Amino acid sequence: TVAIRHLYHDTDKYQGQIVTVAGWVRTVRDSKTFGFIELNDGTFFKSVQIVFEDQLENFKEIAKLGVGAAIIVTGNMILTPGQKQPFEIKATEIVVEGSCPSEYPLQKKRHSFEFLRQIAHLRPRTNTFSAVFRVRSLAAYAIHKFFQERNFVYAHTPLITASDCEGAGEMFRVTTLDPKNPPLDENGEVNYKEDFFGKMANLTVSGQLSAETFAMAFRDVYTFGPTFRAEKSNTPRHAAEFWMIEPEIAFADLKDDMRLAEDMVKFVINYVLENAPEEMAFFNQFVDKGILERLQGVASADFGVVDYTEAVEILKTCGKEFEYPVYWGCDLQTEHERFLTEEHFKKPVFVINYPKEIKAFYMKLNEDGKTVAAMDLLVPGIGELVGGSQREENLDVLLERMAELGLKEEDYWWYLDLRRFGGTRHAGFGLGFERLIMYLTGMTNIRDVIPFPRTTGQADF
Ligand code: 4AD
Ligand code: MG
Repeated sequence: TVAIRHLYHDTDKYQGQIVTVAGWVRTVRDSKTFGFIELNDGTFFKSVQIVFEDQLENFKEIAKLGVGAAIIVTGNMILTPGQKQPFEIKATEIVVEGSCPSEYPLQKKRHSFEFLRQIAHLRPRTNTFSAVFRVRSLAAYAIHKFFQERNFVYAHTPLITASDCEGAGEMFRVTTLDPKNPPLDENGEVNYKEDFFGKMANLTVSGQLSAETFAMAFRDVYTFGPTFRAEKSNTPRHAAEFWMIEPEIAFADLKDDMRLAEDMVKFVINYVLENAPEEMAFFNQFVDKGILERLQGVASADFGVVDYTEAVEILKTCGKEFEYPVYWGCDLQTEHERFLTEEHFKKPVFVINYPKEIKAFYMKLNEDGKTVAAMDLLVPGIGELVGGSQREENLDVLLERMAELGLKEEDYWWYLDLRRFGGTRHAGFGLGFERLIMYLTGMTNIRDVIPFPRTTGQADF
């Protein structure tokens, strides 16, 4: 069989030829002596039109085919200039591989995203989700391409770990102990020493700390894998299981880190615009009008940069009422982030140098002793897309910071070794892959860019 993608891309080669295509029926229309099928095989966003006539021995069966049926069609591919579709296939044979009864939920009409979430196993067959998940696949490839072309080493970091990188206590516990009858220690507390891992283990919230060990060996590295956060917050931007891209670069500072993030985001935008033109045109027409022009603009202009302290001033004096109060030291909420990027700067913007109190232990303390060399990249429509920082390479400062936060040295002995043995300036960031897909497609709910989302109350499929 030939992929429908090839029929569209190599139309001249196939025209006038007998071809065989295999796919799923999107629509069937028939009259007494002939009919039309829109056939989609998943290799291309567009379908092909099949024409069938009553010379077919199974004409009656074909005319009654349900939406969703799997068929194999052989026929002559002919050009149809002046018509909606550039060519069609005149069927000489149609074999039904799998029929599809009329209770099939995806009939030819518009279904709400809420409804489609309940049939996540079928929704990749719709136009919207076919486009979303192809873009997701292409964006993943573009990310690897970006880093590999720059000679970054792809590091696989563990998913089960004892450390809490972000210190936010949002970890899922992993244990082999029987919760009904756990072994107890002399103090009557659960004795995790008897667990498979010998101590409390969790699903990772970030691969960063392990990536740092690789950066101290390979200079430029990245991770790209699943991360887990037991976030109870039920928002359109948070999932309990999401993918993160985390580069880590040695002999580099915050400026280098920001440049890398900006280059990477622009690279992925350009790659997707170039390699998924049909899907992007669909988003532009049906999901988010104007997204094409907006992304093209983002890819060709500099991102903004603003100090946290100045951002707080902007928010305090903008005259807008926020739900959460703004003051120096406050953590920026989504409403603040979106105001800054959507209404004030009107483009992607890095907010840098946050108060140390609202950031993680590993971030480099600035000379003022109050702020850290952190950066968050905010983008219109999403808010925070990237969080990163220069890392504290000074062992004494790091130890002091860990003591302030109550982190135990013995839990991080290997991480501290990186500062003892040839420690150097280094920096990195984490980009939330799902948020990037939302940004690229205009989809407004994270549940609609993950094949099988894990959010509060969602673990079917
Ligand atoms: O800002 P975060 O928490 O940073 C880190 O984890 C660092 N260790 C990264 C690093 O420097 N290597 O998370 C990074 C990004 C956020 O900017 C956001 O895009 C995404 O991960 N993210 C989530 N995406 C979906 N659902 C969630 N619950 C997310 N939490 C964070
Ligand atoms: Mg963050």
